[in-house]
Amino acid sequence: MELAARYPNLHVSRHPLVLHKLSLLRDRTTEPKKFRELVRELSWLLGYEAMADLTTQPLDVETPLETTAGAELEPKVGLVPVLRAGLGMVDAMLELMPSAEVWHIGLYRDERTLKPVEYYNKLPDAATVQVCLILDPMLATGGSSAATVDILKQWGAARIKQVSLIAAPEGVATLSSAHPDVDIHVGAVDRALNERGYIVPGLGDAGDRQFGTFAGPASEPGHAIGDEAAEVVRRLQRSLAGEDRGQSSVPKEPPPDR
Ligand code: PRP
Ligand code: URA
Repeated sequence: MELAARYPNLHVSRHPLVLHKLSLLRDRTTEPKKFRELVRELSWLLGYEAMADLTTQPLDVETPLETTAGAELEPKVGLVPVLRAGLGMVDAMLELMPSAEVWHIGLYRDERTLKPVEYYNKLPDAATVQVCLILDPMLATGGSSAATVDILKQWGAARIKQVSLIAAPEGVATLSSAHPDVDIHVGAVDRALNERGYIVPGLGDAGDRQFGTFAGPASEPGHAIGDEAAEVVRRLQRSLAGEDRGQSSVPKEPPPDR
C-alpha cells in the first residue's frame, strides 16, 4: 500500500520548486554554501505548506481608502530546531513568522545503536506556544523525531508538526506509530535506510554537508557498518513490512541482554 495512504498524517510536497531544489541538494558536488541556501529555500517552501491549516482570527484593517476585513494568525507558534542540522531551517521559518519563538533541542544519533542521545534542552517548565514545528532535515529511523515529540508532549505542547526535507519510510512508520497525531511534512520519501541507518538515495549527512564537517571516509554513509545498527534497521524494515500486511506497527526492541 502507498505510504501516504497508510499514514494520513504524512504530507509529501508535490511542488515543482521543491522537486527541483531537492535534486540540487542531493547532488554530491553541491558545496556547503549552496547546500545551506537550498536548505533555507526548501524550509521556506515546506514551512509554507505545513502552516496551511493554522487558524486565523478576524481583524479590521484600515487601508488608505477604507476599513476592510483582515485576519491575523491565531496560535502562538514555536519553532523547535533539532541541533545541529535543524539550525539551517530556522531563518526561513522566522522570515515566514517573525513572531515565532525558537526552542532548541540538542540530540545526536549514536552511530552504533542509532538511538538518539539528548545533550541540550532549554525548554521552560510549561509550554508557551500552541503549535510546535519540529525542524530537522532528515527523518531516518524516526528515533530523533519521536524522542523530540515525547519531550514536547511532556512540556505540554498541544499540537506538533514535523518538517523534514527527506524521510525514509521506516522513519515515517516509527513516528506515525508512536505519535499518529503529529503531522509530517516532507519534500520526499526515499526508498529505504541502508544498513548504517542512512537514507538512500538521500543526501548523505545533513549536518556535515551544511557545516562542512566531513571527517573523512569514516563519516561517510556505507562505511564501517556496525552489526547493532544493521540489526536496528532490519527490525524497522520487518516492522514496516508487517504493517503493510496489516500486522502490528510498533517496532519491537530486543531484550536488553541480547
Ligand atoms: C541527524 C538528523 C536527525 C537524525 C535523524 O542528526 O539531523 O536529527 O540524524 O536520524 P534518525 O531519524 O535515525 O534519528 P545527527 O545525529 O547526524 O546529528 P547532527 O545534526 O548534529 O549532525
Ligand atoms: N542523518 C542524516 O544526516 N542523514 C541520513 O541519511 C540519516 C540521518
